[in-house]
Amino acid sequence: MLELSLEVLRVVEDAAIASARTMGMGDANTSDQAAVESMRRCLDTIPIDGTIVIGEGERDSAPMLFIGEKVGSTNHSAEPISVDIAVDPLEGTNLCATGGAGAITVLAASEHGGLLHAPDCYMDKIVVGPACKGAVDIDAPVKQNLKAIARRLLRGVDDLVVVVLDRPRHQDLINDIRDAGARIRLISDGDLSAGIAAAVAGTGVHAVMGSGGAPEGVLTAAALRCLNGEILARLVIKDDPQKERMQQMGIRDTNKIYDTSELAPGRNLVFAACGVTDGNLLQGVRFSADGAHTHAVVMTSHPARVRFIETTHLDNRPDVKVRFR
Ligand code: FBP
Repeated sequence: MLELSLEVLRVVEDAAIASARTMGMGDANTSDQAAVESMRRCLDTIPIDGTIVIGEGERDSAPMLFIGEKVGSTNHSAEPISVDIAVDPLEGTNLCATGGAGAITVLAASEHGGLLHAPDCYMDKIVVGPACKGAVDIDAPVKQNLKAIARRLLRGVDDLVVVVLDRPRHQDLINDIRDAGARIRLISDGDLSAGIAAAVAGTGVHAVMGSGGAPEGVLTAAALRCLNGEILARLVIKDDPQKERMQQMGIRDTNKIYDTSELAPGRNLVFAACGVTDGNLLQGVRFSADGAHTHAVVMTSHPARVRFIETTHLDNRPDVKVRFR
């Protein structure tokens, strides 16, 4: 899968540039569409036999990057690699629309069957970094998990920062974290980028807790497989029709607790994300007279490699210059 790294990097970079052009316009749909169209176009230039397993939704609700859609180019001499692809073309559509922090473009790929086909529902999640693997339990009281995280990180609970989506459904969770004495960073959107940050030392994020999108959960797991972090998750079922839909998708035990390897079981995973607006981990796209500057991360599970990549996308003119920082 390593050979796809540069190709998928190009996909997330181009989508980031396209959506960053819409930053602050106040229109989340326009921002999302820019990323989706760019990603779709770019995927078709890569020599892969790709199938979207997590995308913009079902075929009847998403015109592009829908679940089951085939992507990739066959106009190459090499035999195309067969891959499953999960995308979140723009995670944090509102963040981009308002110029808020933390919007990113995301893609993960694996051999066939390497990414759980998660339904478009919520998922309860707890995400921690490598030092805290095996220390948390999604059913344990919040205080107990925070104590376990603090012990593994050799600090007090009051030194921890837990990221939580700022939603009314999280009020009890927020109260429990406050009672335990940990610090909280409430975010308006973007539990996927927060989950990646929790697994990278130095970001100031020690855990992510609460419910967010299940597709984001699978993408988080793909990143965490490369970063040695851990996510534990359980699907949240809204009603009977949703339960039936899950069973049709092959999910028999709707109460199952998934770990990182069950959400992203692929042996050969590649994960790429590019900053659209400035965030904990990635800088947003900068435009200058000479072109665009992007900041991305590309990771593979085998071999285990994590690359942070700054790219200057020069305009096609003979007089443009490359700047060092
Ligand atoms: P978008 O990428 O669709 O804007 O979603 C962002 C997000 O905040 C995710 O990070 C999160 O998992 C999900 O939405 C939470 O959903 P909700 O806004 O319904 O609570």
